[in-house]
Amino acid sequence: MGLLSDKTVVIFGIANKRSIAWGIAQVAAREGARLVLGYQNERMGKAVEKLVEDFPQKPLLVECDVTNDELIAECFAKIKAECDGVDGLVHSIATAKREELGGHFRDTSWEGYALAQQVSAYSLISLSRGALPLMQGRDASVICMSYYGAERVVEGYNVMGVAKAALEANTRYLANDLGPEGVRVNAISAGPIKTVSAMGVSGFKDILDTVAERAPLRRNISQEDVGNTALFLLSDLGRAITGQTIYVDSGYSILGT
Ligand SMILES: NC(=O)c1ccc[n+]([C@@H]2O[C@H](COP(=O)([O-])OP(=O)(O)OC[C@H]3O[C@@H](n4cnc5c(N)ncnc54)[C@H](O)[C@@H]3O)[C@@H](O)[C@H]2O)c1
Repeated sequence: MGLLSDKTVVIFGIANKRSIAWGIAQVAAREGARLVLGYQNERMGKAVEKLVEDFPQKPLLVECDVTNDELIAECFAKIKAECDGVDGLVHSIATAKREELGGHFRDTSWEGYALAQQVSAYSLISLSRGALPLMQGRDASVICMSYYGAERVVEGYNVMGVAKAALEANTRYLANDLGPEGVRVNAISAGPIKTVSAMGVSGFKDILDTVAERAPLRRNISQEDVGNTALFLLSDLGRAITGQTIYVDSGYSILGT
């Protein structure tokens, strides 16, 4: 029996094998979850299909661009038609204009600011709302992915740092709102991992090197490290935890000077 046997977990945010969401999907599959994987567009759908080729239990794949409310509604209608309910929802989604992940923060455009907020922070609210009728009364768990740049200035992270601050606040407000419905909501603040999104942040290589040199554990983290913490939060082991941001960062966030 795995820790997620008999649970249905919906995961958004797999683009390729480097995605953090893929690390979570592999751990959830290992622990017996029935998986639903949401992908952004047709191209990513093909990539996800290939990744899960060897899974013994075929995941349900659903297309969902989170900027489109109709697609979100369609996506949960499809999930409702195929599954009894939803026990876990993983939000591992972010985007920003590449040119705004570097340079002066003061040059952030309204369009770029709004895009980062809509995709990286607001969508936690819209996806949770879409999933709620399927999660009610099931001890369900919602998790999202944040980063240290939400609370401290990380050179180059800019508009995404502000979006992550909103995401962490959304986590607390949603936890309070959804708690009485039997749904807990938590964020994982992950250390840097080399993914397509992360490589868009200027100076990302220096961020990786700094963690390896200075973090208490003197190493960078892996997708599996995040997957294992996600597993704990998705499983019944995390039943009494909600509204929290949990750090999976080799301890980097405790450092002062
Ligand atoms: N890689 C890191 O260093 C790091 C550290 C901390 C937190 N995070 C966070 O982890 C999450 C996953 O990022 P990742 O590093 O795995 O990168 P990634 O590029 O593999 O994943 C980002 C995902 O966001 C999805 N996405 C973007 N716009 C979308 C839209 N409109 N609709 C639906 N999906 C959309 C993409 O399709 C992609 O699957 C993000 O929230 C990211 O900010 C990453």
